[in-house]
Amino acid sequence: MPHSPAKLQTLLDIATEAALAGGAVLQSYWGKLEEIQEKGRPGDLVTEADKASEVAVLEVLQRHLPDHPILAEESGQLGEVTSEYLWAIDPLDGTTNYAHQYPFCSVSVGLLIDGVPQVGAIFDPFHQDLFRAAKGLGATRNRRPISVSKTAELGKSLLVTGFAYDRRETPDNNYAEFCRLTHLTQGVRRGGSASIDLAYIACGRLDGYWERGLSPWDMAAGVILVEEAGGQVTAYDESPFVINSGRILATNGQIHQALSQELLQTKPLAEYS
Ligand code: IPD
Ligand code: CA
Ligand code: CA
Repeated sequence: MPHSPAKLQTLLDIATEAALAGGAVLQSYWGKLEEIQEKGRPGDLVTEADKASEVAVLEVLQRHLPDHPILAEESGQLGEVTSEYLWAIDPLDGTTNYAHQYPFCSVSVGLLIDGVPQVGAIFDPFHQDLFRAAKGLGATRNRRPISVSKTAELGKSLLVTGFAYDRRETPDNNYAEFCRLTHLTQGVRRGGSASIDLAYIACGRLDGYWERGLSPWDMAAGVILVEEAGGQVTAYDESPFVINSGRILATNGQIHQALSQELLQTKPLAEYS
């Protein structure tokens, strides 16, 4: 059953409170990290800031919504998925940036309802950018409405992408797509925070984004932001987006088909695998 605007607004306000709480923790640890560990794959880092931010986010969600299950990057699945709700939380999206004191990272708090992103809050504490959206309620940056760009040609677009931590051992590591699209556009950025990449599509700072190897917590909040800002989110081949697929194509809508076609025509660069 569709949720009422009032219910979605309440959930959005809770998501926002959680994202702001996590952001305050990220600010408090900035430049003071004592613990930077690799989680398994080379380059896949976790710090005490990731963990402390997650504690702060969880505290807010569990206080307001004790029955809601949560999928959190550092804690895994919390609670049984018995209802239509699942929160997907990234307490620090952009850990590599954060560990190097490159101030481009965020807290991402998204809510899936029946498996579909419907509520999202993304907070970048170092630029004081708060992005919010909920199904049917529009998208905002710092409480003002936002919309996607009007760029209509791939050749005039500015794109963004990323590279998953399995890139050294996976031939399908996105290097070939990066080369091809760099050649065809005004540029391809590598932001290092999937949720901010999506938020920047939503507010028109970037025109298109694709990536593989992502987790639900990287995308849940950003997907609803892009959709509510008038953009389009699908799989690479323009079929419906699936949160567990790890793959996303998100654009202003106008360059969607052209970007999809380029992605589908790219062959892997085997020599970099
Ligand atoms: C990573 C960032 C990065 C993306 C990686 C993600 P993390 O998340 O979103 O932009 O390219 O695939 O894993 O590890 O910083 O939370
Ligand atoms: Ca992430
Ligand atoms: Ca993270």
